[in-house]
Amino acid sequence: MSLFYNSNIEINEKIFEPREETEKIVDITLKYLKDKMDILELGTGSGAISISLIKKMPNLNITATDISVEAIKCARKNSVKNNVNEKIDFIKSDWFNKLDSNLKYDIIVSNPPYIPIENKKLYKDLRDPKNSLFAKDYGFFEIKNILEQSSEFMKKKAFLILEHSHHHTLQFDQVLRDYNLKKVITEQDIYGYDRFTVIKNF
Ligand SMILES: C[S@@+](CC[C@H](N)C(=O)[O-])C[C@H]1O[C@@H](n2cnc3c(N)ncnc32)[C@H](O)[C@@H]1O
Repeated sequence: MSLFYNSNIEINEKIFEPREETEKIVDITLKYLKDKMDILELGTGSGAISISLIKKMPNLNITATDISVEAIKCARKNSVKNNVNEKIDFIKSDWFNKLDSNLKYDIIVSNPPYIPIENKKLYKDLRDPKNSLFAKDYGFFEIKNILEQSSEFMKKKAFLILEHSHHHTLQFDQVLRDYNLKKVITEQDIYGYDRFTVIKNF
C-alpha cells in the first residue's frame, strides 16, 4: 500500500504504479473543478487520480475507464479501501469506445501511455505493463487518439487535461487546431519540464 496524493493505493504486478509527479495532475484538475461536475478519467490504472479527486470534492460525478480488466478490478478495490466506491463508475473501455456518446463531461483527465515505443530498450527496467507505458509515433499516438475523440464527449465549455512527455509540447500546437481545440496552458514538473497540458473546446 502506498500513499498517492490523499489516497491509499494498492497495486499488483499487472497494474501501472502511480508516480509522484502525477500528483500534479490532481492539483491542476482541482483548479478547474466546480461542485457536481461530470468528470471522465481515461486510463485510470489503479484509480489513483479519480479516487484522489473525489476525496477532495465528494459531489463530483466521476466515470473512470481503462482497457485493462485487471486495472478496473484494482481501481474498484482501491475505491472500496478509500470509501469512495459508490462515487466512481469504473468501465472497461478502449478510450471512449464503451461510453454512451449522449453523455458529455465538464472535464476529461488522462495520464495515457506516452513513452516512445521506438525507445523501448532504454526502459527495460520498468516493470509496469507495457501497454501502460509505450505508444507509437514517438509516444504521441494515444494522445492523438484521445484528442481526436474528445470533442464528442465534452460539454459546450469543457476542459481536457493531459499528462505527457516534454517532447510533445510542440506537437500539441500542431494538432489542436485540427480538432477544434485550444491550449489553455502547459505546466511543468518539479524539474521544469513541460509535462501537463490543459486544453479547452471554447
Ligand atoms: C500511464 S498509465 C496511468 C495510470 C493511472 N491513471 C496513473 O496515473 O497512475 C496508463 C493507463 O492507460 C491504460 N490504457 C492504455 N491504453 C488504453 C486504451 N486504449 N484505452 C483505455 N486505457 C488504456 C493502461 O492500462 C494504464 O492503466
